[in-house]
Amino acid sequence: MTRLKVAMIGCGWVAGSQVERGFAVLPEQFEVAVAADLDPSRAEAFAARHGIPRMAASLDAVLAMPDVDVVSICTPPNLHFGGVTAALAAGKHVICEKPFVASLAQLEAVRRAEAESGRRAMPIFQYRFGDGLARVKHVVDSGLAGKAYVSAVETAWRRGPDYYQVPWRGKLASELGGVLLTQAIHMHDLLFFLMGPAATVAGFKTTRVNPVEVEDCAVGSLRMADGSLASLTATLGSAKQITRMRFCFEHVAFEVQGDGNDAGRPAELEWTVIPASPEAGERIARAMAELPPGKANFARQFELFHDALATGAPFPVTLDDAQRSLELITALFHAAETGTVVDLPIGPGHSRYEGWVSRA
Ligand SMILES: NC(=O)c1ccc[n+]([C@@H]2O[C@H](COP(=O)([O-])OP(=O)(O)OC[C@H]3O[C@@H](n4cnc5c(N)ncnc54)[C@H](O)[C@@H]3O)[C@@H](O)[C@H]2O)c1
Repeated sequence: MTRLKVAMIGCGWVAGSQVERGFAVLPEQFEVAVAADLDPSRAEAFAARHGIPRMAASLDAVLAMPDVDVVSICTPPNLHFGGVTAALAAGKHVICEKPFVASLAQLEAVRRAEAESGRRAMPIFQYRFGDGLARVKHVVDSGLAGKAYVSAVETAWRRGPDYYQVPWRGKLASELGGVLLTQAIHMHDLLFFLMGPAATVAGFKTTRVNPVEVEDCAVGSLRMADGSLASLTATLGSAKQITRMRFCFEHVAFEVQGDGNDAGRPAELEWTVIPASPEAGERIARAMAELPPGKANFARQFELFHDALATGAPFPVTLDDAQRSLELITALFHAAETGTVVDLPIGPGHSRYEGWVSRA
């Protein structure tokens, strides 16, 4: 098995989580070889904490290191596109945090950069990976759940002034959005992972919790491509952190609720299964029991990334997944700011194709 050498670009909060919950769990597949940060004291502290042998002061310095196979971009959102395209051009495979890039136009440019370089880029959506959701997805994909009716996805989280002490947060130019882009993006990816793409989007957003530029309360109404409907609720002002989801199908309803620390790992929790009949319940229980337990979160996403590079299979999170996510953000921003309903997909002729943040 090839052991891939990874460089972490940006040694902040999420980089630590990727190492602890991901790369360090898979020592046969990965070696975290470099810690890179513009701030040398952060790179140094990070390298010391995680036992990383080498440090660098910039992405360019890392890209000049011939032995680095993979760079993991963990910098603020507005820097992702430049990092991903530079790394591909330098012949590295790339893992990049959410939001993957800052527009649908940039996503197309990444597709071209992949084709030109022969290297590949994987967006992060680690919330997808856990036994609870895997079992539910297995039932849905097998057809046992039947026709989809409605889905409800609630991201009721809490962020206060201390969160916004980090300079890039809360500003449209650097965070690129608020609760929709930074927190609820994971739960909305879970909706697409389970139910497929959306076809039409309406919504509202506002800023009511903190004195910031970005939205901290939002709702959306979606018609999915399969004809079912979905509602989205997101806030950073919930008294307690709660993630809650309900998916209603012809033969079964699935529910999950994660409170406190569990709000950040809905896929790993045990989902409530409410069958419409005892027969449906038996069939669904049998199907769920077929699936062996596996790794969760970053560890599972990185394990599948390693497998995909070895076999040429698609990554566990693809550029098409990033496109669905960015298309939802673009559509919700447009719908909320213009009072219109947006049909997907959003193509190059749309006024927000080059970026969802209105320049008006
Ligand atoms: N997947 C998740 O669950 C999850 C969780 C938190 C954050 N994130 C995402 O990860 C990204 C980083 O968030 P964070 O909370 O870790 O931020 P952070 O502020 O804690 O860390 C960012 C780091 O990047 C460094 N940096 C900035 N510009 C750089 C550059 N040009 N080159 C190298 N280093 C640079 C900063 O010095 C800082 O150390 C964001 O896109 C955020 O949305 C994802």
